[in-house]
Amino acid sequence: MSRIYAFANQKGGVGKTTTVVNLGAVMADWNYRVLVVDVDPQSNATTSLGLNSRQISPSIYDVLTDELPPSAAIHATAWEGLDILPSTPELAGATVELNRIADPRERANRLKQTLAPLDAYDYLLLDSPPSLGILTVNTLSAAHAVVVPVQCEYLALEGLSQLVRTISLVQRGLNSDLRLRGLVLTMFDTRTTLAHQVVEQVRQHFPEQVFESIIPRSVRLSEAPSYGEPGVFYAAGAKGSQAYRRLAWELLRLDGHAPPWKPPDVE
Ligand SMILES: Nc1ncnc2c1ncn2[C@@H]1O[C@H](COP(=O)(O)OP(=O)(O)OP(=O)(O)O)[C@@H](O)[C@H]1O
Ligand SMILES: [Mg+2]
Repeated sequence: MSRIYAFANQKGGVGKTTTVVNLGAVMADWNYRVLVVDVDPQSNATTSLGLNSRQISPSIYDVLTDELPPSAAIHATAWEGLDILPSTPELAGATVELNRIADPRERANRLKQTLAPLDAYDYLLLDSPPSLGILTVNTLSAAHAVVVPVQCEYLALEGLSQLVRTISLVQRGLNSDLRLRGLVLTMFDTRTTLAHQVVEQVRQHFPEQVFESIIPRSVRLSEAPSYGEPGVFYAAGAKGSQAYRRLAWELLRLDGHAPPWKPPDVE
């Protein structure tokens, strides 16, 4: 059975998509079969994996609204073992259509139902939009666990209590299996005192729930999407890429799925 991870934080630009794309790429590189599911109308995961979101059909929109089987909308990427269920800007319209479904459980479980037949993957990584709306609720409802990227910036903790409340609501009402797998600190700038303070604060508020691997701010990671490549392939030696390999190792180890060998740059 596939393990399903949602990556969520209603705050925009905190590194959700970058984390999904790079973790997916590392896992695929380590021979896990990975499907990235782009559940954001901005389609950043789709374009970051080299697809043109304006020319894709069918997409996740058709799967969510037309009951097209998901396998019909899955695209291979240029990297073996890494597939994508892409999104297009049309997905914004699905929000309206989902909100028309009268039964609240059915409305929140549409993605889960949609993904259920997919059993050829080890991991499904769901990229959520920057809101706590119906699309994010669908990703939380479909997932076994949620990972929350947190940017090492001023007001990093803002909104996290609301997110944690939403996660508990989903746990209670829709998906009792859902676990908060952890918070990932992103865009860490070693040179600033503020970044160090944010790491401290987040660790104090969420003891035992913050991944040890911290993702540094890295120009190479931010350049990679414009080439349609995951940063870990575009600049394999960059510090940010090393950090994503460490994070992947940590995540797989928590799942009891870590490969028997350690990547060279994981201490
Ligand atoms: N570690 C990093 N170092 C430098 N830039 C980064 C890093 N991680 C992400 N970025 C850049 O920051 C911006 C926001 O990242 P990303 O798109 O992953 O965030 P997001 O949470 O998915 O955003 P949204 O909420 O809009 O979906 C992007 O331009 C991305 O390239
Ligand atoms: Mg995003």
